[in-house]
Amino acid sequence: MQTIINTITNRSSKRAYLAKPVARDIQEKILKAAQMTPSGANMQPWITYAISDTDVLKNIGDAIIDKMNSGVEHEQFIQYYPLNWVAPYKKRRLETGVGLYKLMGVDRKDYDTRTKMWHNNFRWFGAQTVFFIFTDKANIDGAQGALIDCGAYMQTIMLAAQEFGVDSCPQGSTTEFGKVVADVLNTPENLALLYSVVLGYEDKDAKINSYKPERVPLSETVTFI
Ligand SMILES: Cc1cc2nc3c(=O)[nH]c(=O)nc-3n(C[C@H](O)[C@H](O)[C@H](O)COP(=O)(O)O)c2cc1C
Repeated sequence: MQTIINTITNRSSKRAYLAKPVARDIQEKILKAAQMTPSGANMQPWITYAISDTDVLKNIGDAIIDKMNSGVEHEQFIQYYPLNWVAPYKKRRLETGVGLYKLMGVDRKDYDTRTKMWHNNFRWFGAQTVFFIFTDKANIDGAQGALIDCGAYMQTIMLAAQEFGVDSCPQGSTTEFGKVVADVLNTPENLALLYSVVLGYEDKDAKINSYKPERVPLSETVTFI
């Protein structure tokens, strides 16, 4: 039986896809479910661009990769990762990266291959549907609540997608180039990109898709009183 716990447990980020878009009616069903995500004051602060136009996706990817190649580290609306990595997050981050490169047989010092793997984010891992999630800049001007709401929206999208056999990968890599995405899409001035989610059908033969980083035990993250 497909239970919610099963769906949550079985989801994992997929980083190789078949070249097949998610049909419009399935995208709508996923987004309709995601629309039910709770938000403070029922504000529904998410603003989604659901893109399956391969030219547009290529243009966004090209623009980001060009920007990276020109030496720009980020052009973002929000800073996703901590500026100062402290314990235990630094170790968890390192272990997750090391695990992925080890599985793929990539030396940590092989900068070229690692860069290529990172650029693959902007080739959408071969998928043909990507949701770009924005919010109104006014919502995050001196406040963070909308970020909490939009994070919950992300998880609802990914879990709802599972119902239709659609795999996903959340992307903070696009967060770092949010202004580049906004430029290519020519979005209204008041919008800020928060993240994207790649959606599609995993390539079951791709080794990278077997990567399932473990979680720490509850004793490390929960205090029962
Ligand atoms: C907000 C957010 C941003 C992420 N950004 C990226 C990304 O840019 N590229 C990527 O390959 N994975 C990205 N991930 C996936 C994480 O690496 C992944 O969720 C984590 O390692 C746990 O693995 P799992 O999703 O397979 O359970 C992101 C996840 C989240 C929640």
